[in-house]
Amino acid sequence: MTDQTVIKTGMTLAVIAAICTALVAATYQLTEDRIAANEKALLEKSLQPALAGVFYDSSVSESRLVLQPPHDLPGNDAAIIYRVFSAEQPVAVLFVVTARDGFSGAIRILVGVGFDGTVTGVRILQHRETPGLGDKIDSTRSDWVFQFDGRSMGDPVVTAWGIKGDGGEFDQLTGASITPRAVIKAIRDTLIYFDAHRDEIFSLPATEETE
Ligand SMILES: Cc1cc2nc3c(=O)[nH]c(=O)nc-3n(C[C@H](O)[C@H](O)[C@H](O)COP(=O)(O)O)c2cc1C
Repeated sequence: MTDQTVIKTGMTLAVIAAICTALVAATYQLTEDRIAANEKALLEKSLQPALAGVFYDSSVSESRLVLQPPHDLPGNDAAIIYRVFSAEQPVAVLFVVTARDGFSGAIRILVGVGFDGTVTGVRILQHRETPGLGDKIDSTRSDWVFQFDGRSMGDPVVTAWGIKGDGGEFDQLTGASITPRAVIKAIRDTLIYFDAHRDEIFSLPATEETE
């Protein structure tokens, strides 16, 4: 191969590489907004089950607050709070908190609380509890988690926020007391936090996206 041919081949490859890079960049630009919109829609949909019976404006995810630890909500990782509005009036709050005292590690929980302090829905977002035992906290495995709907701090009284076996008011899971104890405690502590911080929650500016 002559020097000229080597240079020519090299330049051809460089041009092809530049065209490919430009195509990838253009495709990314074109799809970026759509991907972001899809991700947002998915997030909004995943929050919906914890807002049963609440009429609210869409775009809940835009009112997100992220509390880095240490904070007073359950868990020692970031807690997320979504403020929920209807015609600009606060109607509910969604909390994403972590119970650390499950049987197999962290349990990430979505807790919806109406402005009056009533639970509007609870969903388990992530867990590693045992199939057939602790995994019944998952709404796809059993109805266990629905028993908190409509309850509040005071209904039952704070000391009765526990499983029946411990003198509390809530159903346990057969052969698996550790998991429900952890989840109930996390819901209870979230309600206590809501009672103490309700006005503050709605007055804070949304946390900026970092990614
Ligand atoms: C392999 C294995 C997996 C278990 N998984 C769970 C679980 O996911 N959640 C739980 O609360 N207990 C789990 N347990 C049971 C606990 O060890 C413990 O016995 C139980 O939570 C106490 O509940 P009880 O007071 O109803 O007996 C598991 C036990 C074994 C041996």
